[in-house]
Amino acid sequence: MPTTRSDHEAPIPGPGTELRASASADAAPPDAPLARHLLPDTADVASDGHLHVGGVDLLDLVEQLGTPLFVYDEAHVRRRCREAVAAWGDGVAYATKAFLCKAVARLVHEEGMCLDVSTLGELRVALAAGVPPSRLVLHGNNKSEEELAAALDAGVGRIVVDSFDEIGRLGKLTDAPARPANLGAMGPTQRPKVLVRVTPGVEVHTHEFVRTGQEDTKFGFSIASGAASKAVAALELLPGVELVGVHAHIGSQVLDVGHFEEAARVLGEFAAPLQLPELVVGGGLGVAYLNGEVAPTQQEWADATRHACASAGMDPETRITAEPGRSIVASAAITLYRVGTIKDLPGIRTYVAVDGGMSDNPRPVLYGSGYEAFLPRKAAAARTKVVRVVGKHCETGDVLVDEAHVPADLAVGDVLATPVTGAYGYSMASNYNKVPRPPVVFVRDGSATVVVRRETVEDLLRLEC
Ligand code: LLP
Repeated sequence: MPTTRSDHEAPIPGPGTELRASASADAAPPDAPLARHLLPDTADVASDGHLHVGGVDLLDLVEQLGTPLFVYDEAHVRRRCREAVAAWGDGVAYATKAFLCKAVARLVHEEGMCLDVSTLGELRVALAAGVPPSRLVLHGNNKSEEELAAALDAGVGRIVVDSFDEIGRLGKLTDAPARPANLGAMGPTQRPKVLVRVTPGVEVHTHEFVRTGQEDTKFGFSIASGAASKAVAALELLPGVELVGVHAHIGSQVLDVGHFEEAARVLGEFAAPLQLPELVVGGGLGVAYLNGEVAPTQQEWADATRHACASAGMDPETRITAEPGRSIVASAAITLYRVGTIKDLPGIRTYVAVDGGMSDNPRPVLYGSGYEAFLPRKAAAARTKVVRVVGKHCETGDVLVDEAHVPADLAVGDVLATPVTGAYGYSMASNYNKVPRPPVVFVRDGSATVVVRRETVEDLLRLEC
């Protein structure tokens, strides 16, 4: 079932109450309990007030696995994959940069999605998970010859071409004498399918670091300057590849489908006369991070895109798909931390320091992203106190939640949680201050499976010569 807007604004009901969507979309007061739509689908408040996800008490998980800890609701990810496949059809790809490990690669593949990989590392993890190469799409604005050769060798389903240099490299690698060696899995007669990545010249209102559709960008070929048409001509002349479509990605965390519509219109006008069988509109569907936010659904995004493409004169037979990343995994996960230090600065603020920080979630520092916080021991409680949640790293910018509303009795030793951390958290984690990365656990039907173990300092030392 696709989520609907009415799923979005309900605070968590009290103990024993069934978690249900609210029909009301009124903004909640700042001290309200965490809104339901920010939690994984299977989240439930037990009679003792504890939050359970996938039938597992989060505090029990912490007892077993420690903190910090990423907890993913498997059913939630599966449901989002199904929504994406229902909205877009076959060919819709999960953007693995949002979060990739073998377990999630297997899961999204099982649910019928292709996988977008943009480096040799992502390609190899997806292959190691057993995803058939034909279900992989290779991206990247600076693919090396090694990466292209590995993709050709594996026989990936699509390559999205991003530059004239890459066209040169592809030409060399698919040249007749080189072919038998480089087209291993594909066989000598099958040509690799490629799409051309274009920039539609659309500026979305999201953080400038994650805007990609405007003219001033390192990605793709500009439609306005004529580079995109030149790239199409160059690819049509390459005997070793088959140009099957046009691709664009305008940016990430887009909450207004109007931007997708605008981009689809420009893309449709460019692609219609080419009469290629495929159009991919990239990813970018935003998610709600804060109590008051609402996000469009996969279906709303797909409908708006299709409508705009049709108005631009595109052949209705064209396979139009997308590459959602964040919207598949973001609200599937919660990060659990342990509170270690609380400093009350009279007249200034209260600092609550946890045992992770910018190394497991760099998004607040990088993009000024906002998050909510709550206590899994009393998940439905009002959050009347305002504190700044910070990490353990050696800089002032190490802030996880600038102004977090938390229950007034929050204390040292508490487990504190931030929801909606499933996308671009673990995948952008670092070892700053030699802090090992947290483990990732999948929960489902009352059981928990560690899918990525906790890193250790020994792991870090192993790299040293
Ligand atoms: N397709 C392409 C070609 C992309 O570059 C991206 C994301 C996606 C699909 C998936 O976009 P999504 O549906 O996840 O928005 N680190 C940033 C986000 C960077 C997105 C990069 N490209 C963040 O944490 O907000």
